[in-house]
Amino acid sequence: MKKDLLSVYDLEKADFEEIFERAGSLKKMLREGRTCSTLEGKTLGMIFEKSSTRTRLSFEAGMYQLGGMAIFLSTRDIQLGRSETIADTARVMSRYLNGIMIRTFSQESVDEFAIHATVPVINGLTDLLHPCQILSDLFTIIEKNGSYEGMKIAYVGDGNNIANSWINAAARLSFQLTLACPAGYEPDENILKKGIKEGDVTLYRNPSEAAAGADVIYTDVWVSMGREDESTKRATVFKDYQVNTELISHAKDGVIIMHCLPAHRGEEIIAEVMDGPHSVVFDQAENRLHVQKAILEILM
Ligand code: CP
Ligand code: NVA
Repeated sequence: MKKDLLSVYDLEKADFEEIFERAGSLKKMLREGRTCSTLEGKTLGMIFEKSSTRTRLSFEAGMYQLGGMAIFLSTRDIQLGRSETIADTARVMSRYLNGIMIRTFSQESVDEFAIHATVPVINGLTDLLHPCQILSDLFTIIEKNGSYEGMKIAYVGDGNNIANSWINAAARLSFQLTLACPAGYEPDENILKKGIKEGDVTLYRNPSEAAAGADVIYTDVWVSMGREDESTKRATVFKDYQVNTELISHAKDGVIIMHCLPAHRGEEIIAEVMDGPHSVVFDQAENRLHVQKAILEILM
């Protein structure tokens, strides 16, 4: 695996497999009450410029469980937020830490940080990508369906960081990805082009076309972090892109419903579906922990 985890597009198939296998072992170990101190004496810095529940907890608890520790750094408190450069911050932090996770707005900032850091850098979400989430989602699909290979995964909603990372994964692995996004809210153009060329990726307008015969239906919020001022407009644009009982009737009988969370019940997904028998959203959330630990071990 490369030094950093910035995008799932940078991973080879063997890297995905290594992560999933180790995550499975770590999950089993934790369930059986066995400890594992592979990161003893190691420290992870976690820079957050946006809110987080799952990402912060899974990295922080994960480091602790592996015998190391994590330091939470809000950009409100560190000098990076007062215009110390990304390059200088990366150089300095590399002198103290064994790894750095960043959640911020621009992907370019994370890429630049990784160039100047001498320790592994992990993308904990940008406006463009959310690689750790999609790795955990693929692991969840393996747990539920045995494999992601040959599956039809339908993503319904905003062409955001989650959609982009799904397309990147489809360019690397063998599964079918269909997306349904409203006009003007499509995934990143370059990522989509590469996905269509290198993987089995199709973009639809109509959610039921994307969901037809799907093994997995996936959705995410209509308003991502940083887009709050577009909430009213987006509520209108996305109103037909809801994961509800009608939509899931187009999928396979055993379809699994996924959402990276946090969810807005009654918007992109109805409560009845989110709490229903097809939903695996809380297993997905739990698996962030196991997959994060595998990523941390492998990189650090
Ligand atoms: N899914 C996810 O990344 O959740 P948080 O924003 O709570 O970290
Ligand atoms: N698309 C969402 C994902 C949150 C985990 C956001 O960026 O806010």
